[in-house]
Amino acid sequence: MKKLLVIILIVSAAATWAGCSDVRRDRGREYMPDMAYSRAYETYDGHEDLKVKNINYNATPVAGTIKRGAMFPFPIPMDKEGDSTNYVAARQVPNPFTTLTEGQAKEAERLYLINCAICHGTALDGNGPLYNGGNGPYPAAPKNLVADPVVSVMPEGQICYSVTYGKGQMGPYASNLRTDQRWMVVKYVKMKQLEKQGGKEPSAGAPTQSQQQAASSGGNQPGGGASGDNPKASGSRTPQPNQ
Ligand code: HEC
Repeated sequence: MKKLLVIILIVSAAATWAGCSDVRRDRGREYMPDMAYSRAYETYDGHEDLKVKNINYNATPVAGTIKRGAMFPFPIPMDKEGDSTNYVAARQVPNPFTTLTEGQAKEAERLYLINCAICHGTALDGNGPLYNGGNGPYPAAPKNLVADPVVSVMPEGQICYSVTYGKGQMGPYASNLRTDQRWMVVKYVKMKQLEKQGGKEPSAGAPTQSQQQAASSGGNQPGGGASGDNPKASGSRTPQPNQ
């Protein structure tokens, strides 16, 4: 009995040693190859050979189609390199959100904080943690969205153009945010700009600009300025005169 135990011990030790030192890597006989080789599509894998494997995968939606219930894409295409015709034309594109509900405003703020605040800052002052007054890892100074003389009065359509296609050192956000999300963030930025400018009364400043602001903010500025004025100005949206 004792001998048997010793033999068993020796055999199992030998088996363990042999098993551990074996460099054989093949699986031997494949019992269920479809389990051994996953047919799942791995997102970051190359997908050139999917067709060969008889896997039908379309990386992109069919051209010209829009998901049910989704907002139409930004109507103006991207400028060709060195051209700015469409960038200028984008000033005329109205924000489909004339105003944000409380829930939408909250969501817009959330999206801004996730996607933009890292560079433009939670106060929209262009000094987010990535830039950090020039000490951060991001070398280009993000625009101060509320104090930059051009950006702080930029029409919403043009802001949306820049957010959709990118601008200079800033990348495009069309793949991070849906069209409606981009417009909501733009409205959030515009609301903050108006807030910073003291929630201008539509009747106070130059008529064209203030009408434009009344139309674009839907009377949502903190001063409640649009209440007595005609918000139909959205029909006569004009580019801002000072740009
Ligand atoms: C990685 C940093 C970074 C992030 C994130 C970022 N921006 Fe920018 N943004 C910049 C920089 C840098 C510029 C200045 C670009 C230039 O003029 O070269 C800029 C410029 C802008 C402008 C001015 C565009 C123009 O037409 O002059 C607007 C508006 C703007 N950003 C809005 C946003 C919004 C909204 C988001 C979030 C969806 C965002 N940015 C996210 C870095 C960033």
